[in-house]
Amino acid sequence: MKKILIIHGPNLNLLGKRELEVYGKVTLQEINQGLEELAKQRQVELKIIQTNHEGEIVDEIGKTEAKAIIINPGAFTHTSIAIADAIAARNIPTIEVHLSNIYKREEFRHKSLIAPVCLGQISGFGAKSYSLAFQFAMELVEE
Ligand code: DQA
Repeated sequence: MKKILIIHGPNLNLLGKRELEVYGKVTLQEINQGLEELAKQRQVELKIIQTNHEGEIVDEIGKTEAKAIIINPGAFTHTSIAIADAIAARNIPTIEVHLSNIYKREEFRHKSLIAPVCLGQISGFGAKSYSLAFQFAMELVEE
């Protein structure tokens, strides 16, 4: 079975309650349900995690057997050399996702330490950022 790992970083458990004008009303559970449905249609196995802890993300990337990774690193996007190193170490195609358009926001969000080790980044399409990333990840695992 083809496997995709989906990682939601810090504070994304609060979606639907958190800064609605920035992130919208959709909850993390709804996003995950949508992804599970897409995965079922395509016979892909998903592992989905949400964590507020940087080390846990590093551990997951280090041990995964997935063929592709979709990651929204939350605020760790802008700070985490450890997550970037973990992705670089594994050589698994990785797609960075953001609900908001990080380039339209505060300057400190304009820099992603994760982007240089990813295949690409999808930013600014709300919950749809995840389904777009999923579509591309499917192409990768079906290759
Ligand atoms: C985010 C953007 C980050 O800058 C922020 O810290 C988040 C969410 C997004 O999905 O838009 O927590 O990754």
